[in-house]
Amino acid sequence: MADIKTIGVLTSGGDAPGMNAAVRAVVRAGLAQGLNVKGIYRGYAGLLNEEIQDMDAHSVSDIIERGGTILYTARCMEFVTEEGQKKGAEILKKHGIDGVVVIGGDGSYKGAGKLAALGINTIGLPGTIDLDIACTDYTIGFDTAVNTAMEGIDRIRDTSSSHERCSIIEVMGRTAGYIAAVCGISTGAEDILLPETYDYDEARIIEHVIQGFKNGKKHHIIVNAEGVGDSEAMAKRIQAATGIQTRATILGHLQRGGSPTARDRFIASMMGVKAVELLLEGKSNRVVAMKNGALVDYDMAEALAMQKTIDPEWIKASKLLTR
Ligand code: ADP
Ligand code: F6P
Repeated sequence: MADIKTIGVLTSGGDAPGMNAAVRAVVRAGLAQGLNVKGIYRGYAGLLNEEIQDMDAHSVSDIIERGGTILYTARCMEFVTEEGQKKGAEILKKHGIDGVVVIGGDGSYKGAGKLAALGINTIGLPGTIDLDIACTDYTIGFDTAVNTAMEGIDRIRDTSSSHERCSIIEVMGRTAGYIAAVCGISTGAEDILLPETYDYDEARIIEHVIQGFKNGKKHHIIVNAEGVGDSEAMAKRIQAATGIQTRATILGHLQRGGSPTARDRFIASMMGVKAVELLLEGKSNRVVAMKNGALVDYDMAEALAMQKTIDPEWIKASKLLTR
């Protein structure tokens, strides 16, 4: 066992439902094993402003079911600089913090790696709705986000059918199409546009819309990834080319909020416990990931160097099921 007495926890980058469950698990698992636990507010920005508070069991009461993050989150350019990182490490040492759990995406991991190099034990947990962290099959918040988006798309299909319209629904995911692929397949969309495969063949989509209505379809749902974008303009062009009323809806930030699903609460909790376990073992500069259904951990730099793309089976299904 390492000589770890005090740990900190922070959330960084875009918030994701389930982050609170992870924070709660870090705090409770830390306290249960005799550690002092401090909450670092507003990510690396709050660290540099010394927004650090002692946490007790009650600090994380009634948060497992809440979306967002009680620690708040931020993006911080100062922390990308060497001076910022040194200042951050000094502040942590000043507060007696020997280890930090960073919950966020790739960018947050890079910051955690810098702290590790400056002598602070760090463990990363994958927190992003985008599922775009290469080392892991699961990220905290993805499951809730796709369920929220799926419900929104189902609702839009009701009104789209009533008006016999084409609807383009843009979902988040930054440059990745994971949310679009899962939502598209799960809502039975007529077209699923993924940045990984989109070929800009709009003529094919237009033909597909026309053919669908000719065959008696009452709606044509296009799930479009934000990485493809241009949904409003696309809707105007499709309407002009088909004569079928076409509306675009950008689901936007509503996908980031809301009460986390059981899957997000459960895995975030398990990951929080694992992060504390790793710190207690004296591990540093590691990230917790899910691989083939099991929790594992990787070296931070190795994790950041990994590449992933959408499972080819997802892509195959997204094509076969939209013909
Ligand atoms: P995410 O963690 O979701 O990928 P960002 O990419 O916005 O989100 O990163 C979150 C924060 O992590 C940034 O605002 C910055 O403070 C920190 N960060 C990002 N890249 C680096 C880096 N190369 N070195 C140090 N800190 C970084
Ligand atoms: O990374 C999560 C995410 O919601 C992406 O899907 C999206 O591109 C981005 O964050 C939006 O960021 P912001 O909250 O800064 O608008």
